[in-house]
Amino acid sequence: MFKAPVSTLQLEIGFGGGEHLLHRATEAPRTGFIGVEPFVNGMAKMMTALGKAPLGNLRVYDDDATRLLDWLPEASLDGIDLLYPDPWPKKKHWKRRFVGVANLARFARVLKSNGRFRFASDIDSYVNWTLLACREHGAFAWQAEDAADWHQPYDGWPGTRYEAKAIREGRRPAYLTFIRK
Ligand SMILES: C[S@@+](CC[C@H](N)C(=O)[O-])C[C@H]1O[C@@H](n2cnc3c(N)ncnc32)[C@H](O)[C@@H]1O
Repeated sequence: MFKAPVSTLQLEIGFGGGEHLLHRATEAPRTGFIGVEPFVNGMAKMMTALGKAPLGNLRVYDDDATRLLDWLPEASLDGIDLLYPDPWPKKKHWKRRFVGVANLARFARVLKSNGRFRFASDIDSYVNWTLLACREHGAFAWQAEDAADWHQPYDGWPGTRYEAKAIREGRRPAYLTFIRK
C-alpha cells in the first residue's frame, strides 16, 4: 500500500487539519500511516501539505472510518488513534459517539494482539463513556499506572488544533491508552 517500505501500521481516525498525523508520519518514516477524514476542508488542507512535502508512508481516506475498518484485514494494525472525536455532549446524542459496541468490535478485529488504541478527549462524559465501554467490551486493557497518568499527553505529543481550542476554553484533556488483549 505504501511507496516507502514500512514495517508497522497505524490508523488515525478523524485527523481534522492533519497536524498530529503529519507530525507522526514525518518522524516515523518506517511506519505506515492511514489517516481518515471525511470533512472536505480537513482533507484539502492535508492534500495541500502533502503536495508541498509528499510522504511515502502516508495514505488517506476521505469517507467514514467504519468502511475502512471493515475493509482492513484482521489483526493488521499496530495502533489506532482516535483523538478528540466529535463529542456529542448532550445525553440524547451519546449513541452517535464513535466509541460504542460496534466500533470497539471493529477495533478488536483489526488490531494485532498488544496493539494500542489511544483515545483523547476534553469531554469528561465521553472519557467515562469510553472507559466503561472498553471495560465492558473485554478485549481492551486500560494502561494507567497512576492517578495522574491519564492527564499526561502521549510521548512526543504535538497537540491538535481541537485540543488547543479546548485548553483555551478551560477544559482539561484526558489521554487514554488501551492495549488489545
Ligand atoms: C472534533 S474533530 C477533531 C479533529 C482532530 N482530531 C483534532 O483533534 O483537531 C473530529 C473529527 O472527526 C471526524 N469524523 C467524524 N466522524 C467520523 C467518521 N465516522 N470517520 C472518520 N472521521 C470522522 C470529523 O470530520 C472531524 O474532523
